[in-house]
Amino acid sequence: MRKHIVAGNWKMNNNHSETHQLLSDLKQQTKSSNAEVMVAPTYVNLQYAVSELGGTDIEVIAQNMHFADNGAYTGEVSANMLNSIGVKTVILGHSERRAYFNETDESLAKKVDQTLANGLRSIFCFGEELADRKAGNQEAVVESQIKNALFHLEASAWQHIVLAYEPVWAIGTGETATPEQAQDMHAFIRKTLRDKYGDEVAENTTILYGGSVKPNNAKEIFGKPDVDGGLIGGASLKAEDFFAIVNAF
Ligand code: 13P
Repeated sequence: MRKHIVAGNWKMNNNHSETHQLLSDLKQQTKSSNAEVMVAPTYVNLQYAVSELGGTDIEVIAQNMHFADNGAYTGEVSANMLNSIGVKTVILGHSERRAYFNETDESLAKKVDQTLANGLRSIFCFGEELADRKAGNQEAVVESQIKNALFHLEASAWQHIVLAYEPVWAIGTGETATPEQAQDMHAFIRKTLRDKYGDEVAENTTILYGGSVKPNNAKEIFGKPDVDGGLIGGASLKAEDFFAIVNAF
Protein backbone atom coordinates (compact mmCIF):
# COMPACT_ATOMS: atom_id res chain seq x y z
CA MET A 1 0.00 0.00 0.00
CA ARG A 2 1.36 3.39 -0.90
CA LYS A 3 1.66 6.03 1.80
CA HIS A 4 -0.66 8.94 2.35
CA ILE A 5 1.26 12.16 2.95
CA VAL A 6 0.25 15.70 3.79
CA ALA A 7 3.18 18.11 3.62
CA GLY A 8 3.14 21.82 4.43
CA ASN A 9 5.39 23.99 2.28
CA TRP A 10 5.88 27.18 4.25
CA LYS A 11 7.78 28.83 1.37
CA MET A 12 9.47 32.13 2.37
CA ASN A 13 7.21 32.72 5.39
CA ASN A 14 7.70 32.86 9.16
CA ASN A 15 10.61 34.50 10.96
CA HIS A 16 12.01 32.83 14.04
CA SER A 17 9.33 33.83 16.52
CA GLU A 18 6.55 33.08 14.03
CA THR A 19 8.14 29.70 13.42
CA HIS A 20 8.24 29.09 17.16
CA GLN A 21 4.53 29.94 17.40
CA LEU A 22 3.46 27.76 14.49
CA LEU A 23 5.50 24.81 15.74
CA SER A 24 3.89 25.18 19.20
CA ASP A 25 0.46 25.34 17.59
CA LEU A 26 1.20 22.23 15.53
CA LYS A 27 2.17 20.31 18.66
CA GLN A 28 -1.29 21.04 20.09
CA GLN A 29 -3.06 19.40 17.16
CA THR A 30 -4.34 15.85 17.14
CA LYS A 31 -3.95 13.61 14.16
CA SER A 32 -6.85 11.31 13.39
CA SER A 33 -5.80 10.08 9.97
CA ASN A 34 -3.17 7.65 8.70
CA ALA A 35 -1.32 10.32 6.71
CA GLU A 36 2.36 11.01 7.25
CA VAL A 37 2.68 14.68 8.18
CA MET A 38 5.57 16.92 7.14
CA VAL A 39 6.40 20.60 7.33
CA ALA A 40 9.01 22.53 5.36
CA PRO A 41 10.22 25.67 7.16
CA THR A 42 12.83 28.00 5.68
CA TYR A 43 16.49 27.06 6.01
CA VAL A 44 17.23 29.43 8.88
CA ASN A 45 14.60 27.71 10.99
CA LEU A 46 15.14 24.16 9.85
CA GLN A 47 17.37 22.93 12.65
CA TYR A 48 15.20 24.66 15.24
CA ALA A 49 12.12 22.95 13.82
CA VAL A 50 13.88 19.57 13.90
CA SER A 51 14.60 20.00 17.59
CA GLU A 52 11.15 21.40 18.45
CA LEU A 53 9.29 18.61 16.65
CA GLY A 54 11.56 15.84 17.94
CA GLY A 55 9.43 13.16 19.57
CA THR A 56 6.32 14.10 17.55
CA ASP A 57 5.31 12.31 14.37
CA ILE A 58 5.65 15.46 12.27
CA GLU A 59 8.66 15.23 9.97
CA VAL A 60 10.68 18.35 9.15
CA ILE A 61 11.65 18.56 5.50
CA ALA A 62 13.58 21.04 3.32
CA GLN A 63 12.31 23.19 0.46
CA ASN A 64 15.31 22.82 -1.84
CA MET A 65 18.96 21.79 -2.02
CA HIS A 66 21.94 21.94 -4.36
CA PHE A 67 23.12 19.11 -6.60
CA ALA A 68 26.81 19.27 -5.70
CA ASP A 69 28.46 17.59 -2.72
CA ASN A 70 29.94 20.84 -1.40
CA GLY A 71 32.14 23.71 -2.59
CA ALA A 72 31.99 27.21 -4.03
CA TYR A 73 28.22 27.63 -4.38
CA THR A 74 27.49 30.73 -2.32
CA GLY A 75 24.09 30.68 -0.70
CA GLU A 76 23.42 27.00 -1.33
CA VAL A 77 22.83 24.01 0.96
CA SER A 78 23.89 20.41 0.35
CA ALA A 79 22.23 17.04 0.88
CA ASN A 80 24.92 16.14 3.39
CA MET A 81 24.14 19.25 5.45
CA LEU A 82 20.45 18.33 5.54
CA ASN A 83 21.27 14.79 6.55
CA SER A 84 23.59 16.01 9.28
CA ILE A 85 20.76 17.85 11.07
CA GLY A 86 18.27 15.02 10.70
CA VAL A 87 16.37 16.21 7.62
CA LYS A 88 15.63 13.20 5.43
CA THR A 89 13.23 14.56 2.82
CA VAL A 90 13.53 17.49 0.43
CA ILE A 91 11.08 19.19 -1.93
CA LEU A 92 12.58 19.51 -5.42
CA GLY A 93 11.45 21.27 -8.57
CA HIS A 94 8.72 23.46 -7.12
CA SER A 95 7.27 25.64 -9.88
CA GLU A 96 8.39 28.76 -8.04
CA ARG A 97 11.97 27.51 -8.20
CA ARG A 98 11.58 26.60 -11.85
CA ALA A 99 10.09 30.04 -12.63
CA TYR A 100 12.24 32.36 -10.49
CA PHE A 101 15.50 30.44 -10.06
CA ASN A 102 15.87 28.83 -13.47
CA GLU A 103 15.60 25.24 -12.33
CA THR A 104 15.46 22.92 -15.30
CA ASP A 105 14.71 19.25 -15.84
CA GLU A 106 18.46 18.73 -16.26
CA SER A 107 19.49 20.39 -12.98
CA LEU A 108 16.62 18.62 -11.21
CA ALA A 109 17.79 15.25 -12.49
CA LYS A 110 21.15 15.99 -10.83
CA LYS A 111 19.45 17.03 -7.61
CA VAL A 112 17.43 13.82 -7.54
CA ASP A 113 20.63 11.80 -8.04
CA GLN A 114 22.20 13.70 -5.17
CA THR A 115 19.30 12.92 -2.82
CA LEU A 116 19.62 9.23 -3.64
CA ALA A 117 23.39 9.24 -3.13
CA ASN A 118 22.78 10.70 0.33
CA GLY A 119 19.89 8.47 1.36
CA LEU A 120 17.31 11.25 1.19
CA ARG A 121 13.76 11.07 -0.07
CA SER A 122 12.52 13.71 -2.49
CA ILE A 123 9.11 15.19 -3.11
CA PHE A 124 9.43 15.96 -6.79
CA CYS A 125 7.11 18.72 -8.05
CA PHE A 126 5.91 19.40 -11.56
CA GLY A 127 2.80 20.71 -13.29
CA GLU A 128 1.56 22.59 -16.28
CA GLU A 129 0.91 26.31 -16.69
CA LEU A 130 -2.48 27.77 -17.54
CA ALA A 131 -1.58 28.21 -21.21
CA ASP A 132 -0.65 24.53 -21.43
CA ARG A 133 -4.00 23.49 -20.02
CA LYS A 134 -5.93 25.88 -22.23
CA ALA A 135 -4.16 24.36 -25.23
CA GLY A 136 -4.90 20.83 -24.00
CA ASN A 137 -1.19 20.11 -23.57
CA GLN A 138 -1.18 19.39 -19.83
CA GLU A 139 -0.44 15.68 -20.14
CA ALA A 140 2.40 16.19 -22.62
CA VAL A 141 4.00 18.82 -20.36
CA VAL A 142 3.74 16.69 -17.25
CA GLU A 143 4.99 13.60 -19.03
CA SER A 144 8.07 15.40 -20.30
CA GLN A 145 8.84 16.90 -16.87
CA ILE A 146 8.71 13.44 -15.30
CA LYS A 147 10.62 11.68 -18.07
CA ASN A 148 13.39 14.26 -18.35
CA ALA A 149 14.15 14.46 -14.64
CA LEU A 150 13.32 10.96 -13.39
CA PHE A 151 13.29 8.29 -16.07
CA HIS A 152 17.04 7.69 -15.85
CA LEU A 153 16.38 6.16 -12.40
CA GLU A 154 16.40 2.44 -11.66
CA ALA A 155 13.08 1.00 -10.50
CA SER A 156 14.53 0.47 -7.01
CA ALA A 157 15.14 4.23 -6.62
CA TRP A 158 11.42 4.93 -6.73
CA GLN A 159 10.90 3.92 -3.13
CA HIS A 160 12.68 7.21 -2.33
CA ILE A 161 10.59 9.40 -4.65
CA VAL A 162 7.24 11.03 -3.93
CA LEU A 163 5.59 12.90 -6.79
CA ALA A 164 3.67 16.15 -6.37
CA TYR A 165 1.43 17.33 -9.19
CA GLU A 166 1.02 21.06 -8.77
CA PRO A 167 -0.71 22.80 -11.69
CA VAL A 168 0.86 26.26 -11.74
CA TRP A 169 -2.49 27.96 -12.32
CA ALA A 170 -3.82 26.54 -9.05
CA ILE A 171 -0.94 27.61 -6.79
CA GLY A 172 -1.78 30.46 -4.46
CA THR A 173 -4.67 31.50 -6.67
CA GLY A 174 -7.57 30.03 -4.73
CA GLU A 175 -8.44 28.19 -7.93
CA THR A 176 -8.16 24.48 -7.26
CA ALA A 177 -8.12 21.79 -9.87
CA THR A 178 -11.44 20.02 -9.60
CA PRO A 179 -11.22 16.60 -7.95
CA GLU A 180 -11.87 15.12 -11.41
CA GLN A 181 -9.04 17.13 -13.01
CA ALA A 182 -6.70 16.00 -10.23
CA GLN A 183 -7.80 12.37 -10.55
CA ASP A 184 -7.44 12.39 -14.34
CA MET A 185 -3.91 13.75 -14.14
CA HIS A 186 -2.87 11.45 -11.28
CA ALA A 187 -4.18 8.43 -13.19
CA PHE A 188 -2.22 9.60 -16.23
CA ILE A 189 0.94 9.97 -14.12
CA ARG A 190 0.49 6.49 -12.70
CA LYS A 191 0.00 5.09 -16.19
CA THR A 192 3.18 6.86 -17.31
CA LEU A 193 5.03 5.16 -14.45
CA ARG A 194 3.42 1.79 -15.25
CA ASP A 195 4.42 1.99 -18.92
CA LYS A 196 8.05 2.59 -17.98
CA TYR A 197 8.52 0.61 -14.74
CA GLY A 198 5.59 -1.78 -14.40
CA ASP A 199 2.88 -2.26 -11.81
CA GLU A 200 4.94 -2.31 -8.64
CA VAL A 201 6.47 1.14 -9.04
CA ALA A 202 3.20 2.57 -10.38
CA GLU A 203 1.11 1.25 -7.51
CA ASN A 204 3.57 2.03 -4.74
CA THR A 205 4.49 5.60 -5.70
CA THR A 206 2.72 8.25 -3.67
CA ILE A 207 1.36 11.08 -5.83
CA LEU A 208 0.39 14.28 -4.03
CA TYR A 209 -1.79 17.07 -5.33
CA GLY A 210 -0.87 20.70 -4.61
CA GLY A 211 -2.62 23.96 -5.46
CA SER A 212 -5.07 25.80 -3.21
CA VAL A 213 -5.91 22.79 -1.05
CA LYS A 214 -7.97 24.07 1.90
CA PRO A 215 -9.92 22.49 4.76
CA ASN A 216 -13.13 22.86 2.76
CA ASN A 217 -11.95 21.05 -0.38
CA ALA A 218 -9.36 18.54 0.90
CA LYS A 219 -11.77 15.70 1.58
CA GLU A 220 -13.17 15.69 -1.93
CA ILE A 221 -9.72 15.84 -3.55
CA PHE A 222 -8.23 13.18 -1.26
CA GLY A 223 -11.27 11.01 -1.93
CA LYS A 224 -10.03 10.32 -5.44
CA PRO A 225 -8.33 6.94 -5.83
CA ASP A 226 -5.06 8.16 -7.34
CA VAL A 227 -4.64 11.19 -5.07
CA ASP A 228 -2.47 10.06 -2.16
CA GLY A 229 -2.23 13.34 -0.28
CA GLY A 230 -1.37 16.97 -0.64
CA LEU A 231 1.40 19.53 -0.74
CA ILE A 232 -0.09 22.51 1.01
CA GLY A 233 1.07 26.12 0.76
CA GLY A 234 -1.05 28.91 2.27
CA ALA A 235 -3.25 26.68 4.42
CA SER A 236 -0.19 25.08 6.07
CA LEU A 237 0.64 28.39 7.79
CA LYS A 238 -2.22 27.92 10.28
CA ALA A 239 -1.93 24.79 12.42
CA GLU A 240 -5.70 24.29 12.68
CA ASP A 241 -6.26 24.54 8.95
CA PHE A 242 -3.28 22.32 8.22
CA PHE A 243 -4.52 19.61 10.57
CA ALA A 244 -8.05 19.90 9.22
CA ILE A 245 -6.46 18.96 5.88
CA VAL A 246 -4.34 16.18 7.44
CA ASN A 247 -7.47 14.76 9.04
CA ALA A 248 -9.47 14.97 5.83
CA PHE A 249 -8.29 11.44 4.98
P1 13P B 1 -1.06 26.93 -2.15
O1 13P B 1 -1.64 25.82 -1.30
O2 13P B 1 -0.84 28.20 -1.41
O3 13P B 1 -1.83 27.10 -3.42
O4 13P B 1 0.41 26.44 -2.58
C1 13P B 1 0.59 25.17 -3.08
C2 13P B 1 2.04 24.92 -3.19
O5 13P B 1 2.74 25.54 -3.97
C3 13P B 1 2.64 23.91 -2.30
O6 13P B 1 3.95 23.64 -2.66
